[in-house]
Amino acid sequence: MMSEAEPRLFARSDPDAPVPAGAGLPDCTACGNKRFIVGAAGGLKPCPSCDVALTWRIHAVSAFSSRSDLTRGQRFANFRTSLDGEESAVLRRCLRAAEKFAEAPDGQWLVLWGERGCGKSHLCAAVDNHLLAMHVAVLYITMPDLLGALRQAMDLDRNTEQESYSGRMRTFKTASVLILDDLGAENSSPWSDSVLFELLDYRYRQRMPTMIATNVDPDHFDPRIASRMQDKAFSVVLANTAPDYRRRPKKERGG
Ligand SMILES: Nc1ncnc2c1ncn2[C@@H]1O[C@H](COP(=O)(O)OP(=O)(O)OP(=O)(O)O)[C@@H](O)[C@H]1O
Ligand SMILES: [Mg+2]
Ligand SMILES: [Zn+2]
Repeated sequence: MMSEAEPRLFARSDPDAPVPAGAGLPDCTACGNKRFIVGAAGGLKPCPSCDVALTWRIHAVSAFSSRSDLTRGQRFANFRTSLDGEESAVLRRCLRAAEKFAEAPDGQWLVLWGERGCGKSHLCAAVDNHLLAMHVAVLYITMPDLLGALRQAMDLDRNTEQESYSGRMRTFKTASVLILDDLGAENSSPWSDSVLFELLDYRYRQRMPTMIATNVDPDHFDPRIASRMQDKAFSVVLANTAPDYRRRPKKERGG
């Protein structure tokens, strides 16, 4: 027998049919608890009044994030721009570019490349932390983690949107802001190359904000990727030539 508390199924053939708010969710008159509204371009966008859909989206992308206790502490404020007691123009430029990207990522790409330990991941994490605090559905993920999540989806015998290969790929392609770290650190194969191309080409064509950090000179990527990464119309490419921070004497690091 159906108890009173059991949720009723609603026929959604009528788009104006009332929708219950759901346990713990706010009643919203702006979207009628549908959590999405029709945007200017005709597509659906998260309702800004109740913010429920955006929170769902943030949770959905965060499930794949490479965030850790280390990255949560990596901020713009603790990124040091001095080297051997002197201000470093390169480090300052990289910090500025990352701050600028984080302030207004729309339509921007930022590519940081350089040797081990020069601070690329620190700046990726700082952008991630900043955007997360601004309530943006940002995905900070390393290329090996991204490929691992896709490979796992191939092994999973399940078909929910979150678990399917195509669902995961869509999450990566459409994240409001994508921060792709350690590009080029993956074991490259024709499959991983095609994943990377599909991902970056989609975000390139949609002009979706993307930050990339890599050890590899952008010129050394597949020419189709190299060309998109270095489109001067909207992409800033910076070489971080600072020495390995991990090898700097402790007294220079402060804190
Ligand atoms: N300018 C800096 N100020 C403060 N900490 C820094 C700076 N540069 C690097 N670090 C710290 O040094 C460590 C290594 O930096 P990071 O992980 O950002 O290097 P990376 O460029 O990503 O290197 P890899 O290519 O090996 O991934 C981190 O703990 C980071 O917080
Ligand atoms: Mg790194
Ligand atoms: Zn709403």
